[in-house]
Amino acid sequence: MNTNQWGTIRFTDKVALITGGASGIGRATANRLAAEGAHVIIADNNADMANKAVSEIQEVGGKALFVEVDLADDESVSAAASAVTEKFSALHILVNNAAVLRTGRIEDGEWLPNWDVETAIGLRGWVHITQHLLPLLKQESAAIVNLSSEGGYLGRPGQWVYDAIKAALVSVTKTMAQEFVEYGIRVNAVAPGWIVTEMHFGTAPNPATQKKVLEELTITSCIMKRLAKPEEIAATIAFLLSDDASYITGQTIHVDGGRWGMSVRS
Ligand SMILES: NC(=O)c1ccc[n+]([C@@H]2O[C@H](COP(=O)([O-])OP(=O)(O)OC[C@H]3O[C@@H](n4cnc5c(N)ncnc54)[C@H](O)[C@@H]3O)[C@@H](O)[C@H]2O)c1
Repeated sequence: MNTNQWGTIRFTDKVALITGGASGIGRATANRLAAEGAHVIIADNNADMANKAVSEIQEVGGKALFVEVDLADDESVSAAASAVTEKFSALHILVNNAAVLRTGRIEDGEWLPNWDVETAIGLRGWVHITQHLLPLLKQESAAIVNLSSEGGYLGRPGQWVYDAIKAALVSVTKTMAQEFVEYGIRVNAVAPGWIVTEMHFGTAPNPATQKKVLEELTITSCIMKRLAKPEEIAATIAFLLSDDASYITGQTIHVDGGRWGMSVRS
């Protein structure tokens, strides 16, 4: 791969694993890293979407493969790491991205059934897969990006579990940065604002219509007054993973259009 629309080729022959790479921000990140020369591993629990994502990368000359993983299942995490270890002798990039969003206000206890699944996938699973992949990440210098969220800084009504996880990831990012620096591994996080992804339109009665509505929505909660495209988050993730960010670690970068409040629509 010699060229792409961005004119940057920063990941030639690097091996990159993206959890949740079958959809949304993860998929845009997989596309971006592959377009910049990386061999991309899409680690996801949705085989249909993941295989489609792999095919699309391969169709344009990129390198990609699918490794099935359910981040909520310890054995699956361990098996996925073993599958990667069988194929590759080093891992240069890890993007901890896969998560689910559930809602429920504290008062009525609607959050209770969601606690286990949200934390198992979006917090425990992230640290667990990182632990299992660490031997590979230690082989050659590596970089990790964790996906936090504006929610981790806002604490929104009806989303306390999700937002608390995203706040925790800011802290986990700093812990990882300090624990892994001796292996030459940098660890950063990205806190996106509101992005038009399957997370927000996937379960709508007509996802395509809802996607268009979101893309055209005006919001008052950020300076730019619009939602972001997944590719805009992927660009920041790619920067943090690249040598362009060689002196950045333990940080959370906000990519939110200049957010100043809740996601209020106008
Ligand atoms: N979309 C937003 O507005 C937004 C804003 C801030 C932060 N984020 C964060 O960005 C990340 C990606 O979000 P997105 O909007 O692209 O989500 P998405 O729903 O489009 O994609 C999530 C991916 O994770 C996979 N996944 C779900 N459960 C899994 C499991 N148990 N094991 C393995 N894979 C699993 C899904 O199959 C899917 O491919 C998440 O961490 C999310 O919290 C999103």
